[in-house]
Amino acid sequence: MDGSLTRTGAGAALRHDSALKHCTGEARYADDIPEVPGTLHAALVLSTVPHGTLTALYADAARAMPGVVAVLGPRDIPGKNDIAPTGKDEPLFADPVVEFAGMPLALVVARTRDEAIRAAAGVKAEIAPREAVLSIERALELGQNVIAPQTIRVGDAAAAIAAAPRRLDAEFRAGGQEHFYLEGQVALATPGEGGDMTVVSSTQHPSEVQHLVARVLGCDFNRVTVTCRRMGGGFGGKESNASWVAAAAALAARVTGRPVKLRLQRRVDMIATGKRHPFLYRWSAGFDETGRIHGLKALLAADGGWSADLSGGVVFRSVTHALGPCDVPAVELTAQAVKTNTVSHTAFRGFGGPQGALLIEDVMHRVAAALGRTPEEVRARNFAGVDGNGDATPYGQRLEGDLIARVWAEARRDSDWDRRRAEIAAFNASHPTLRRGLGSMVLAFGISFGIQHLNQAGALVHVYSDGSIRLNHGGTEMGQGLFVKIAQVVCDVFGVDLDRVAITATSTAEVPNTAPTAASTGSDLNGWAAHNAATAIRGRMAEVAAAKWGIAPEAVVFADNKAWAERVGANRNYDFSELAKLCFLERVSLSATGFYKTPDIHWDREKMRGHPFFYFSYGAAVAEVIVDTLTGEHRCLRADLVQDCGRSLNPAVDRGQIEGAFVQGMGWLTCEELWWDAQGRLRTVGPSTYKIPGSRDVPPVMNLRLLDGAPARVETIFRSKAVGEPPLLLATSVWNALKDAIGTPDLDLPATPERVLMALRRRG
Ligand code: MTE
Ligand code: HPA
Ligand code: MOS
Repeated sequence: MDGSLTRTGAGAALRHDSALKHCTGEARYADDIPEVPGTLHAALVLSTVPHGTLTALYADAARAMPGVVAVLGPRDIPGKNDIAPTGKDEPLFADPVVEFAGMPLALVVARTRDEAIRAAAGVKAEIAPREAVLSIERALELGQNVIAPQTIRVGDAAAAIAAAPRRLDAEFRAGGQEHFYLEGQVALATPGEGGDMTVVSSTQHPSEVQHLVARVLGCDFNRVTVTCRRMGGGFGGKESNASWVAAAAALAARVTGRPVKLRLQRRVDMIATGKRHPFLYRWSAGFDETGRIHGLKALLAADGGWSADLSGGVVFRSVTHALGPCDVPAVELTAQAVKTNTVSHTAFRGFGGPQGALLIEDVMHRVAAALGRTPEEVRARNFAGVDGNGDATPYGQRLEGDLIARVWAEARRDSDWDRRRAEIAAFNASHPTLRRGLGSMVLAFGISFGIQHLNQAGALVHVYSDGSIRLNHGGTEMGQGLFVKIAQVVCDVFGVDLDRVAITATSTAEVPNTAPTAASTGSDLNGWAAHNAATAIRGRMAEVAAAKWGIAPEAVVFADNKAWAERVGANRNYDFSELAKLCFLERVSLSATGFYKTPDIHWDREKMRGHPFFYFSYGAAVAEVIVDTLTGEHRCLRADLVQDCGRSLNPAVDRGQIEGAFVQGMGWLTCEELWWDAQGRLRTVGPSTYKIPGSRDVPPVMNLRLLDGAPARVETIFRSKAVGEPPLLLATSVWNALKDAIGTPDLDLPATPERVLMALRRRG
């Protein structure tokens, strides 16, 4: 089907299918579904102590409060008090060990949400405190991990560093990030007959919601149906955390026999759900005068929080992305997730990849400063597959050096690098306090889930006898435009317009055993699954038409809402709807499931070698900032981004993804700061204390371009490439521009005005 592009098929720059509904407010989110009479509301009771033993919970006063129906805790769970998404022993309610300030202790169920929230505040806990571990450093000293160190070794890094003409050691850190999805975590659980439970959940992973609801209720998966039409943003925050919110709602629905909705308040959402992992980095590098790195030894220590959650995958992605697009002949890269008494950190756009890439950027910038060279020069000197450098990652998978060189050359050209470099130097020489800076970034991001079995997807397509099509697949819509992309794939197969396709809510009852919509693989995986389902139906339809016309089925073409064939006169074609009707009358099935699994991926955990990614996505960026050296404040004035999307399925949607990811990345690296007090309590619990980028933080000049003429080199759906996460890494160019502006590579993240001032002071 490659190349048979219809007006609304693959490659068309269509707007998001719900764009107008998002604007008018018609788009229905979980909380918009009309509540049936008798629906109850739940609220969580959270620990305010970071570590201890729960010795008593006083709930009688809360039970007596207006509207309260029940106060539930671990004893009320019919199944297991365990919400671990991958491992085990991550309790939903503390029993009796309290692991962080914000850990759920109980759930209050009441007639209204306000009553539930009020009563939750009336539940009193008695907790015998234990020593709390609140920093990565302390956890490293104690040697406590949620994920044991994973090390990738190539050659003898220590020897290469010792033998190199120059050597540097450094330590730096990057903060975490709150997802700040506009729609918070929410689930509505409705009990049915015979123990059935239906859950509407704002989740990236309906199958896991199903599994955890079943685990907590102690029932089989087939009793639980989970649906999600859309989320108001997920960003990784609803990959695993949505499941326990839904499990809590389902528990309350089971106990009360009534529908129960649990919608977290923003404050509770920020305190009780996981975030991007903060990282501490320690490294030593050996290099020469040209900037070529000979050896690198590094520790990437992630703060895992109190439990493993998805930290294994995050650690894996950080260590596999720690060299970015660069080659270093001898490395020893160790990543681990330490255990602290803070919320359990989780997936966030990039999933450890952005944190991994910070390592090599820090190395390049400090090496450049030491040599009096530019970071761009040093980075390019070490590009994989360029100028005789090796083209394999340290775990053995090849990078495409030509694409790395190309994205960087194009970003450099688009940004008018040389001219602006000179202009900025002149400005800086003439201004007493303002400093402008230019920074760049080049990314290589591996596409596939680190956990092999997650790289699978299913779809269910029906053609009705009037020729209308109903599309369902395992992917979820969180604003990223997955549904319209998959509909475009189906349109392409059938040669019909988009208005023929009904896009429907994700449901575990329609497509079972699915992976989360994550790792940017939504369109890659579900695109092929839907393609396979639609192709099966089209094949049957072609047979019916071919039999009527006395030709081979392969000669039947589907285009322009018609089925036709070369040798058949124009008056002998079928309208798509006419053919659908004919198939029905001839008793031909017009329904099919489709399945897909990513080929050619493997990983050896012992050796830490393999081919874990189906392919890589590449990109490059140049950013300009202006810094006020008196206040430490800055603005990003301009960004030029080049992103490889292969042959884009939908350039309009992809541009939106690139823009959004860049700004979200800027937020992480510059203004979003999570702050826990000495008692381990998160004190940045709303937009007044936690600053996400606003419209005025978007660079006033933002040029973005999809890399032209670069179809994927492996068989992805229509040769497109994933786009959801990679461009977030492009925001690293803003960090790099700040370092350029202030004249020192020593700048921790997030680069808030305070940290910029501290860096200026250290620089002297
Ligand atoms: N875009 C929007 N608007 N909202 C989101 O929540 N999540 C991101 C990205 N883009 C997100 C988004 C993340 S973390 C991932 S993994 C991908 O979308 C998931 O969708 P995809 O696989 O279909 O790209
Ligand atoms: N991204 C997101 N979620 C995941 C991944 C990943 O790479 N691997 C396992 N779960
Ligand atoms: Mo995205 S962090 O893989 O949900």
